[in-house]
Amino acid sequence: MIKHLSSTQAIPEVSAIPRHVAIIMDGNGRWASKRMMPRVAGHSEGLSAVRKIVQECRRLGVEYLTVFAFSSENWRRPPEEVGFLMKLFLKSLKGEVSRLADNDICLRLIGDLTRFDQAIQEMVQFSEQKTAGGKSLTFTIAANYGGRWDILQAMQRCLADNPNIKPEDISEGVLQPYLSMAYAPEPDLFIRTGGEQRISNFLLWQLAYTELYFTDVLWPDFDELELQKAFDWFSQRERRFGRTSAQLASQVTSDAV
Ligand code: IPE
Ligand code: IPE
Ligand code: MG
Repeated sequence: MIKHLSSTQAIPEVSAIPRHVAIIMDGNGRWASKRMMPRVAGHSEGLSAVRKIVQECRRLGVEYLTVFAFSSENWRRPPEEVGFLMKLFLKSLKGEVSRLADNDICLRLIGDLTRFDQAIQEMVQFSEQKTAGGKSLTFTIAANYGGRWDILQAMQRCLADNPNIKPEDISEGVLQPYLSMAYAPEPDLFIRTGGEQRISNFLLWQLAYTELYFTDVLWPDFDELELQKAFDWFSQRERRFGRTSAQLASQVTSDAV
């Protein structure tokens, strides 16, 4: 596995098109309520938006797309809604896996999958195996994922592998391979639809230097045009990673020489 550089350890390369896009797909329930439909109808509609955005990211040359589908706190929702989401998750994996494989897309799941039914766990394993060779885009679904869980599970697995490690020897480099997104560079662009401006326990560690884009558009309405708006906004950001604007300007000049 390629070891990706940490944004706090080295200055990452920047590009106009984000290499890694991470999305909190929020607003499904409100989309449905506005139409006098049950909240769960918004989740079904949200799936169509996922399809569109996966294909568009692939077309635009994004290498990694990560979406938040179910947080470790979403179990707190009414049991009927949780039950519906579980059925939809299984159904959509079954329905989409061939299309993902045909499109050369690699599917990965992050999160504590042990809490899901056996049928879901088996389907996840099958889908990951079937798409493992995908080279055009790595599409990650975060399910029963929490940023705090991620950091804790990384620390636990790291200590289990290195029982004699000294506290001072634990560094970013030692911990990083145990984080659930160790296979990907840190997200360049974070998008949250649905109007809220919070992280809701998504990729806490990995978002350290990610550009954060918030839009009021509800997830089922988020389409190629809205993605382009986010990318246009992203291309205008000055990614300083702690440096000054003057330093960036002089780097551009010296690169040009
Ligand atoms: C996001 O939409 C999907 C999940 C969390 C599963 P919501 O269901 O949170 O929709 P709102 O925020 O209530 O409108
Ligand atoms: C975040 O949305 C989780 C997902 C989109 C899966 P929520 O709707 O659960 O977030 P909060 O509760 O508004 O912060
Ligand atoms: Mg919500």
